[in-house]
Amino acid sequence: MRSRPILIAPSILASDFARLGEEVRAVDEGADWIHLDVMDGHFVPNITFGPPVVKAIRAASKKVFDVHLMIAPADPYLEPFAEAGADIITVHAEAGPHLDRSLQAIRALGKKAGVSLNPATPESAIEYVLDKLDLILLMTVNPGFGGQAFIPAMFEKIRRTHAMIGDRPIHIEVDGGVAPDTAPLVTAAGADVLVAGSAVFKGGTRSAYTANIATIRDAARAGLASAAA
Ligand code: DX5
Ligand code: ZN
Repeated sequence: MRSRPILIAPSILASDFARLGEEVRAVDEGADWIHLDVMDGHFVPNITFGPPVVKAIRAASKKVFDVHLMIAPADPYLEPFAEAGADIITVHAEAGPHLDRSLQAIRALGKKAGVSLNPATPESAIEYVLDKLDLILLMTVNPGFGGQAFIPAMFEKIRRTHAMIGDRPIHIEVDGGVAPDTAPLVTAAGADVLVAGSAVFKGGTRSAYTANIATIRDAARAGLASAAA
């Protein structure tokens, strides 16, 4: 059984965009990774930001920039996001017909490659690209918006994904509705990276963010401990 440290990745989608640099600095202390949600108004029904914004906030943090591309097509934008300062680039399996090629392109840019699955997409969709993956991002809400309720059927998908990857060094990241109540359940099921937007950015101050992250981390670790017991 592989055991990995639990990582918390605040999603800046829930931050105050008018003060984006300050908000990234404010979560930096407690965060392991910074999660950046890129939306195009086509693959998902919302629009956020592109490479220039990623580049602008790169100076605000030395943490891993975990860039979640909810865009179609993704391939033409992999290089601009790599140049902007992404460390991990995640594409959606549903966003294009040539996932294997997209993952190769990300690694050829010297970046870690991730694939994300919408709630309705089975984990078997990525069975034949596991050797090209550093991360699997399981959406636990329908992508596009923060603050939605966690979809309970995803616990079983996390378990199945965890079983499928075996001892391969692939992170299982969960995204959507992650908070102190769901955190122990996702780590018990096999997730090791937890994205959280609204649960981190509530309170509006640096000290609130640090405390929120610590609360999620403690809950996540408790879930892992209970699963091991
Ligand atoms: C949704 C995004 C998430 C979002 C999560 O499409 O991918 O990263 O910020 O927000 P919460 O944690 O509020 O559900
Ligand atoms: Zn995301």
